[in-house]
Amino acid sequence: MPPKISLSRYLVEQQRMDGHIPAELRLLLEVVARASKSISQSVNKGALGDVMGGTESENVQGEVQKKLDIIANEVLIEANEWGGHLAAMASEEMEGIYVVPNRYPQGEFLLLFDPLDGSSNIDVNVSIGTIFSVLKKPEGAGVSEQDFLQPGCKQVAAGYCVYGPQTTLVLTVGDGVAMFTLDREQGSFVLTQENVKIPEDTKEFAINMSNMRHWDTPVKRYVDECLAGVEGPRGKDFNMRWVASMVADVHRILTRGGVFLYPWDKREPNKPGKLRLMYEANPMSWLVEQAGGAATNGRERILDIQPTKLHERVSVILGSKNEVERITHYHTKP
Ligand code: AHG
Ligand code: MN
Ligand code: MN
Repeated sequence: MPPKISLSRYLVEQQRMDGHIPAELRLLLEVVARASKSISQSVNKGALGDVMGGTESENVQGEVQKKLDIIANEVLIEANEWGGHLAAMASEEMEGIYVVPNRYPQGEFLLLFDPLDGSSNIDVNVSIGTIFSVLKKPEGAGVSEQDFLQPGCKQVAAGYCVYGPQTTLVLTVGDGVAMFTLDREQGSFVLTQENVKIPEDTKEFAINMSNMRHWDTPVKRYVDECLAGVEGPRGKDFNMRWVASMVADVHRILTRGGVFLYPWDKREPNKPGKLRLMYEANPMSWLVEQAGGAATNGRERILDIQPTKLHERVSVILGSKNEVERITHYHTKP
């Protein structure tokens, strides 16, 4: 049997052989992985720990925060603030940016995260996760929210950790996608898949069907054609899956293909979508592209969008390349 490759070894080799990542970024990713391990422990405790249920507080998006949203946010901040690799952090659960306190050295990277994705699934024991994105701080003294407003194509690392039947960390540093499974006995993440590839075609789509009456024409057309099955214009039967945790839906797509849609709809016409560009759509889009898939907002590549605010929302269509191209085509050339 070939030796097991730990996440630490994978990162050291990325640093040494391919020159993909500087030492500080390697440290940062190790720390994010350690924090994910700790969040995984809390998730696993469930009703045996004080981690289930909601709180009295709301986040900047007006969503009631679950206990685990807050626990995961704190774990990520405490783990990352002292290492000297970061200048600041931003999170779904914090309105403004979190600048590394003066008592610690300031590094050159910026970390963004959705500490706990799929909050509605915590109490029902369904897969949830942590999503993260790393940017380089632009040159210059100090750090401000403006420094975070870079398009997704500028990310230097992105990934997620899914807390499901297994805890799996999925990562890209721009050299393809690698998956690491948490070995609980050893306490370390072990490389279990490299060069992840999403099939270009698929027979599986993911969308919250209860919003159908609010959808825009191109989305309605696409789903209608899938539902028409073998007798319809697509000439094949489709399957539908919707976990309601983006991490779990994207993990399935990276594993066996598929397409995920959380499009703009008429419920709140002034909002571009539900999902957040900087810490949900951007990291997931880069992972999907690195695995040979595609990601658009229906009109343009998500990674090219210039953000104008930290908590900006975006319409998301990602996954198997030919399917995403088809849906994008339905939007741009109906
Ligand atoms: P979060 O829990 O971080 O707020 O994100 C939940 C997101 C995403 O994970 C998922 O795809 C979507 O919300 C589910 O939305 P619906 O409940 O509208 O299906
Ligand atoms: Mn989320
Ligand atoms: Mn969240």
